[in-house]
Amino acid sequence: MAAGKGLEEVVAAQTAISDIDGKLGKLWYAGYSIDDLAKNSTFEEVTFLLHHGRLPTRDELDELTEQMVNDRQAAAFLSHIMPTLAEQTSPMSMLRTSVSAASAYDPDGWDQGPEANYRKALRLIALMPTLIASYDRHRKGQAIVEPNPTLPHAANFLYMLTGEEPSQEFADAFDTMFILYADHTMNASTFTARVVASTLSDMHSAVTAALSALKGPLHGGANELAMRMLEDIGEVGRARQYVQDLFARKEKIMGFGHRVYRHVDDPRTTILRPVSQALAESVGEPQWYEIAREVEAVAFEERGLRPNVDFYAGSVLHYLGLPEDLFTPMFASSRSAG
Ligand SMILES: CC(C)(COP(=O)(O)OP(=O)(O)OC[C@H]1O[C@@H](n2cnc3c(N)ncnc32)[C@H](O)[C@@H]1OP(=O)(O)O)[C@@H](O)C(=O)NCCC(=O)NCCS
Repeated sequence: MAAGKGLEEVVAAQTAISDIDGKLGKLWYAGYSIDDLAKNSTFEEVTFLLHHGRLPTRDELDELTEQMVNDRQAAAFLSHIMPTLAEQTSPMSMLRTSVSAASAYDPDGWDQGPEANYRKALRLIALMPTLIASYDRHRKGQAIVEPNPTLPHAANFLYMLTGEEPSQEFADAFDTMFILYADHTMNASTFTARVVASTLSDMHSAVTAALSALKGPLHGGANELAMRMLEDIGEVGRARQYVQDLFARKEKIMGFGHRVYRHVDDPRTTILRPVSQALAESVGEPQWYEIAREVEAVAFEERGLRPNVDFYAGSVLHYLGLPEDLFTPMFASSRSAG
């Protein structure tokens, strides 16, 4: 019997695609350190790595890229229901419903062989940014921007959201976000997907269920709340008191604490902090980064708490121009690779 909370210490399933050392603060995807992947690879390469357990050759990468570019287009039915979804549902509900509906249009139909499943997975990974961008443009009353086949996955997502090709700095930062969120061993949504898959249900059902689990604010959502907190604080001078008041009320600071990285930095934070700093300067809004640094200092001084991936992800996604309620859908879209 486990003595810890929830499934702590219970071996519920095993995964070979990522590995964490919570004492050293290390994360690997299929044996490659997250630092190396963030620095030297792209989300497309990481997608291949997570699916095959090794990095692709140039030809394999070209083939996967071509496949994902072709799969960006949403089926006509999804385009038809999007105005209603944009008006009536939250972004995560839209994603859950659209992914479920996409099963009706998947060319592999009811085939559940490994090759068909691989193609279905790539289609969903490729499709999610299109769905999210189309949702956002509908609700803002803007014309839909068709995917740009010449742009990589992350850059194309920004392009479909804004209608403008992102700068190299923005494209690289967003690609890094996609890499960092792509997998994190066992967690509520991954576990949910695996429970559904283990009943020999199908790919779309497993992903729909995972999205339903991620939708809950106790799982996804911390990046959005972290950014809202920075906005609520408003200026560096208010950060200390704000954090102390949270502690006094026994409330949690969003984007802090981690089940696994308890006494070391979350390695993804170490990567994202300088990204947030650089974007702060480029965008000309240094205050969010500065407030974040102050919150980080006070949380550590007062309680020894360290930021997790979601803390700097909040300001990075804000600097990249994503509306806050699309932070979790973006996380979902990246995590679908894992
Ligand atoms: C991630 C999280 C669920 C991990 O929870 P956990 O491992 O169960 O940590 P615990 O609840 O055992 O926390 C240990 C102590 O640190 C405190 N703590 C942990 N995270 C905290 C936070 N974000 N803010 C304030 N205090 C926090 C707890 O209150 C507890 O204090 P106590 O011993 O006096 O009761 C938790 O840190 C959290 O809710 N963080 C905020 C939400 C978030 O950022 N989620 C994204 C995770 S990637």
